[in-house]
Amino acid sequence: MNKLWKGRIQKDTDKAVEDFTYSIDIDKSLYLHDLAGTAAHVIGLKKIGIISDAELKKILVGLLEIKQKIENESISIDQYEDIHSLVENELYSLIGDPALKIHTGRSRNDQVVLDERLFCKDIIISLESGIVGILESILELSEKNTGVVFPAYTHLQKAQPVSLSHYLLSYFDKFYRDFQRLGQDFENCDYMPLGAAACAGSGYKIECRIIADILRFKNLGTNSMDIVGSRDFIIDLVYSCSMIMMHLSRFCEDLIIYNSDEFSYIEIEETYCTGSSIMPQKKNPDLLELIRGKSSLVIGNLVQILVLLKGLPSTYNRDLQEDKKILFSAIEDTIGSVNIFGKLLLKIKFNESVITEKLKLGFLEATDMADYLVRKGETFRNAHHIIGNIVKYCIESGKTIPDLSIARLKKFSGLFEDDIFKKIEMEACLNAKDVNCGTSLNKVSEKMSIAKSRIKELKSLLEGLRIRTVSLDSVIGSAADKII
Ligand code: ARG
Repeated sequence: MNKLWKGRIQKDTDKAVEDFTYSIDIDKSLYLHDLAGTAAHVIGLKKIGIISDAELKKILVGLLEIKQKIENESISIDQYEDIHSLVENELYSLIGDPALKIHTGRSRNDQVVLDERLFCKDIIISLESGIVGILESILELSEKNTGVVFPAYTHLQKAQPVSLSHYLLSYFDKFYRDFQRLGQDFENCDYMPLGAAACAGSGYKIECRIIADILRFKNLGTNSMDIVGSRDFIIDLVYSCSMIMMHLSRFCEDLIIYNSDEFSYIEIEETYCTGSSIMPQKKNPDLLELIRGKSSLVIGNLVQILVLLKGLPSTYNRDLQEDKKILFSAIEDTIGSVNIFGKLLLKIKFNESVITEKLKLGFLEATDMADYLVRKGETFRNAHHIIGNIVKYCIESGKTIPDLSIARLKKFSGLFEDDIFKKIEMEACLNAKDVNCGTSLNKVSEKMSIAKSRIKELKSLLEGLRIRTVSLDSVIGSAADKII
């Protein structure tokens, strides 16, 4: 293979050095983006007269052929140092001398970051559509379970009754924010680095705006030294992946607990569970556990990428080659988890009768009882104290609050009247939380219709992003339309 960087180096590279430095096994995944970026660059070279019409046509046809050859697996990929060398060398064997012009005015430093930015724009769209899948599943599950009262926990101790839909929608809000964060990441990726070359800027007056338009980049890089050596957009994306995984992990943790025999709040369909090789009775929630496990890897990726960058001197350093391993790993685990989780949610059934039975224990109405006394004129602090005594009495006598007579309640406070029993039914407790973010059935049904319109809005945002991405065909098409 002809090395792109032979220059002053005359001797052949030691084989051990090649093995250590080659990145093709990782960056081959960028082939589509490298080909599209190269096509746009040569169109730019034609614009400024570095290559002729005939040469441009040969190069573009050659690039299409390389794409096909990679996809048919008729190139022995491993012989190359990286994806950039592969494209240039393969092009040379297909079309000869014009291939020797494609690196004019660019460096692998701006080339690789261009590929990564194009890749990230595409991948953000896949991630966002996976998130929309989760949001749709959450909404579907919420709509199926309106009217089911569910215990909310604080400190994993029963706290107050909420609507099951309210609980589920609490995750809708988290993933909705994740979608929006990814939208911002897309904008951060949308800067075109070509023209930066190695670090000082290209020595050719490349028409960056035209190339950016062909590649559908909104913005141009403004400082060559910054854009070849910064990877903030990757850090942002890996951070967003970590947030998604952290949210998934918490949801999974809830569901693992609710799935335990001790809780038995949910049932996961058998096709989405696994068994044990030794204990025949087991039906394990392995998917939930694996997602929780993978979250640690992605959070690790965030630390890796930050540490990779933190000690680098200005502009490009070869350390940056390692960024792709980190990025690809974070993306693969996050997309895999997001996609399977969206499906898994629809395989979950909530056991309403068990949940209703278990709501009877745990004194979930205690706060509402204190609120009752406050409404009758008691101070909240005193009311808190009175209800604390009632709960203590119930624990000692093995009773629940609704078991107590009005006469017994009056011994704790003369303000209790017969209407207390209606006020502390689970539905009444729930409907009393009628503030904007509260769990009253009214507010929850309002939130479900907001969720429905948000999903619509996100889908159209996604369509808007899709038209801001490119393929090799679209790049070549724009050459035919506008440039040649
Ligand atoms: N494989 C390299 C990377 O991923 C490509 C850029 C190499 N640039 C260089 N000056 N050696 O970062």
